[in-house]
Amino acid sequence: MTSILVTGGAGYIGSACCRQLLEKGYRVTVVDDLSTGHAEAVPSGVSLHRIDIGDSDSLAAILSTSEIDAVFHFAAKALIPESVMNPGVFFDVNVARGIAMLETLRSHGIRKVVFSSTAAVYGTPTIVPIPEDHSKDPINSYGESKLVFERILQWYAAAYGWSVVAFRYFNACGGASDWGERHEPETHIIPLLLQTASGRRPIFEIHGTDYPTPDGTCLRDYVHVVDIAEAHLLALQKMDGSGFHAYNIGTGRSHSVKEICQAAESITKQKIHVRAGQRRPGDPSVLCASPKKLMDEFCWAPKHSDLDEIIAGAWEWEQTQCSKLVARP
Ligand code: UFG
Repeated sequence: MTSILVTGGAGYIGSACCRQLLEKGYRVTVVDDLSTGHAEAVPSGVSLHRIDIGDSDSLAAILSTSEIDAVFHFAAKALIPESVMNPGVFFDVNVARGIAMLETLRSHGIRKVVFSSTAAVYGTPTIVPIPEDHSKDPINSYGESKLVFERILQWYAAAYGWSVVAFRYFNACGGASDWGERHEPETHIIPLLLQTASGRRPIFEIHGTDYPTPDGTCLRDYVHVVDIAEAHLLALQKMDGSGFHAYNIGTGRSHSVKEICQAAESITKQKIHVRAGQRRPGDPSVLCASPKKLMDEFCWAPKHSDLDEIIAGAWEWEQTQCSKLVARP
């Protein structure tokens, strides 16, 4: 049985990948320091080790007892607003501790890595939809830290014959009654809107209405995490040779913040209290993927990324969260 190590497997995207790996019969080991992830998000049948990826001794002990064939590397700091305020910690976790992890993998002969990168590596795009060979000029330290780590992986692939796939996610979203987004603090548009719809928050603020877009609000490419997870499984089947390959994961369609607000009202059938606010530092006006390379080379296509399906699933998750709050004494 093929055995996969998932770093950050207690997080939103990492745990979605764990579920699909298990469904397809892989053995899954998770390492996660639970600084932002949740132990209960890790599906049963997965062994969870609460460690920091930079803790080489603990990671080495895990690798010595489990024969890992490939690594899905999600563990990272990932909130863009925080990365603008506090860059040092992003380079520490996403780069410095990442290198320590790579060295531990290397000393255990592991040569296949699927890396969780981001559309934030591109910065403000000059070509939309964005192809993978677009210039890279991040406007926040999160994007910069992911770009640096992509380049490090490129050097590892060249020097040690590793097979590396870097996936640049656009806006990951979606949920179901038993899983979904849970960040602390929450900064993402869909959970924030739905928490406002359910009454957990009084108001939703649009971060900027003066962008050079048709309705003045930012455009983003929203892609369901189940579609993201499927790309990861397809990557595993493509990792026989050595080399570094980067792919966008997005739909090629974009929606404005105002469109997301309208869709959330229509799906939830709730009036959502929205007000226009200032721009948020670090936000490019448009991010929209060209997914052509992924589609051509992996035969991947988004199957769950229609806005209505995304918001309906995330709304189920929000209602689960609300019922847990009510049930709490
Ligand atoms: N937004 C609001 N109000 C809010 C929250 C968000 O108007 O309260 C807006 C943002 O300004 C942005 C859009 O909604 O225009 C989406 O914001 P999110 O915070 O949901 O997501 P980001 O686009 O900032 O970032 C996400 C991931 C990153 C990834 C990026 C790539 O978190 O990891 O998508 O597209 F790099």
